[in-house]
Amino acid sequence: MKILGLYFTCTGNTKYVADITKEQFELLGHEFDLFSIELEKNSPTKIKNIIRNYDMIGLFHPIYGSGIPKIFKKYLDELTKLVDDLNIDGFTITTVALFSGDGAIVSKKYFDET
Ligand SMILES: Cc1cc2nc3c(=O)[nH]c(=O)nc-3n(C[C@H](O)[C@H](O)[C@H](O)COP(=O)(O)O)c2cc1C
Repeated sequence: MKILGLYFTCTGNTKYVADITKEQFELLGHEFDLFSIELEKNSPTKIKNIIRNYDMIGLFHPIYGSGIPKIFKKYLDELTKLVDDLNIDGFTITTVALFSGDGAIVSKKYFDET
């Protein structure tokens, strides 16, 4: 399986978790590309052109204010607008300090239920 991981990190916790997740998937024989959403080369417009090469998408972000950081939300809003007919599985992993709020389920709205 080919997996696309998109992450946002500020202090590095989420990148650490994303790196471990990538390692674990790779140990199981999967391909895992991990991209920072902050780099221009990984902008929604660019990812739109490659996203269909993947079987699964993983979202990694810290919890800010019991939800998704504004920068990640903006990114996902743009990406889902560009590729609203995508039919692949997805998952979200978040990092927190103390209170996760709704945690990883906050990004559920970006995935269609199947
Ligand atoms: C602006 C801001 C808001 C945060 N809000 C929460 C929160 O609501 N609940 C919580 O448990 N942690 C909160 N945190 C802590 C981060 O989620 C936590 O430290 C996370 O692991 C940071 O990830 P990063 O190192 O990838 O940036 C907040 C951090 C910041 C900077």
